[in-house]
Amino acid sequence: MTLSVLIDEATIARRVKEMAAEISRDYADQEELVLVGVLRGAFIFLADLARRLTIPRRVEFVALQSYQGTTSGAVRVLMDLESDIRGKHVLIVEDIVDSGRTVRYLMENLKARGPASVRICTFVRKQRRESADIDVDYLGMEIPDAWVVGYGLDYNDQYRTLPYVAKLEI
Ligand code: IMP
Ligand code: MG
Repeated sequence: MTLSVLIDEATIARRVKEMAAEISRDYADQEELVLVGVLRGAFIFLADLARRLTIPRRVEFVALQSYQGTTSGAVRVLMDLESDIRGKHVLIVEDIVDSGRTVRYLMENLKARGPASVRICTFVRKQRRESADIDVDYLGMEIPDAWVVGYGLDYNDQYRTLPYVAKLEI
């Protein structure tokens, strides 16, 4: 297996800083923003992004699992939020949007709890037709439809803590 760097550390840092500035501007008038990180992949991006925000914010996590061996796109909650998000402004923080099933499910699940708003922030999105209809509010970068690792993203739990995003050639 070989790795080829797709997004280097400096580029990641620059983009995260820009995204944090944009989010901080957009939520400047709100009392608080609840960041919902999707475990495990989003933990590094969330840590970087959250520390760059200049607005009041709180960090929550969910852990989700896609059902294996089905094409229904069903998703299961392995670990839920600890706090009530009713009336709160919520930002889903994801590492990657591929088919878009995970964020679509989470969006519907969170909306049902009566938050003031729910938006989606993802560090990367794959360029494929199916994910095009997912309304991502904050996007770090579009990437080719390949398997990528690093910066939270894994391949069988490997490569997750690489400081850059790389394409994995198997
Ligand atoms: P979805 O297809 O948009 O629902 O993505 C489901 C999940 O698959 C993501 O949250 C990631 O955890 C994982 N995933 C999709 N593509 C990649 C990839 O290229 N590298 C690592 N994980 C991925
Ligand atoms: Mg993920």
